[in-house]
Amino acid sequence: MTPEKRHGLPGLFVAFEGGDGAGKSTQASLLCEFLGAAGIPVIRTREPGGTPVGEKLRSLVLEHGQGEIDARTEALLFAASRAAHVAQVILPALARGAVVVCDRYVDSSVAYQGAGRELGAQAVLDVNLWAVAGLRPDLTVLLDVEPAEGRNRRTALNATEDRMEAEPDPFHERIRTQFLQLAERSADRYLVLPADEERDQLGGQILDAVLERLS
Ligand code: TYD
Repeated sequence: MTPEKRHGLPGLFVAFEGGDGAGKSTQASLLCEFLGAAGIPVIRTREPGGTPVGEKLRSLVLEHGQGEIDARTEALLFAASRAAHVAQVILPALARGAVVVCDRYVDSSVAYQGAGRELGAQAVLDVNLWAVAGLRPDLTVLLDVEPAEGRNRRTALNATEDRMEAEPDPFHERIRTQFLQLAERSADRYLVLPADEERDQLGGQILDAVLERLS
C-alpha cells in the first residue's frame, strides 16, 4: 500500500536526517540527479538556510566567533530559519507539485537541541511544529552513523568543524539515540539506513522508497 501524504499538496516532501558526517549531502544529490534525469520536478534545499534570512541565521548559529549563544536562543534561531524556509521555499514547491529534497528538518532540532543540548525533545518539537504550521515530511531518510565514525569521515573531508561538530562525542551520542527513537515512533515515514553501506546500494534503497510514494 502506498503511504498516505499528510499535507494534501501535490508534491512530495523528503527530508534527510542523521549525525554529522553521515553522508546526507551525497545521498540527497544522488536522489535529485536521478529524479531530474527522469523528468520529475525536484528542488534540493537545506536547513538551516534556504532563504536569505535563513542563510544569515545559519551563519549566526554555526560559525565560531559570534560570542556566546545559549541553547534556547540557538533552538529559536533554527526554528526561525525553518519557518522562513517552509513559507518561502518548501510550501510553494510542494504546491507546484515538486519533490522537495531537504537536507535536515524539524527532527534535527529535536535531536540536536532537544537531546544534544538537553532542552527536551517535546518542547523543541512543539516550538518547531508551530514554526512550520504542522508541516511534516512524507518520507524521512535517516542515515545512521556512530559518532566516532562520523568524526572520522568529517575530518577526512574537511579539517574545520562548526559549533555543533566541535561538541564532544556524548553530545553526538545523545543525538544519535534521539534520531533512532524518532524513527521508531514514526516508522511509517522513516527509512533508517546504516551510513556505512555502499553509496549506490544506499541510493537504490532511497530511490525505491521515494518512487513508492510518488506512484
Ligand atoms: P548541516 O549543514 O546539515 O551540516 P552537515 O552537512 O555537516 O550535516 O547542519 C549544520 C549543523 O547544524 C549540523 O551540525 C547540525 C546542526 N543543526 C542543528 O543543531 N539543529 C537544526 O535544527 C539543524 C537543521 C541543524
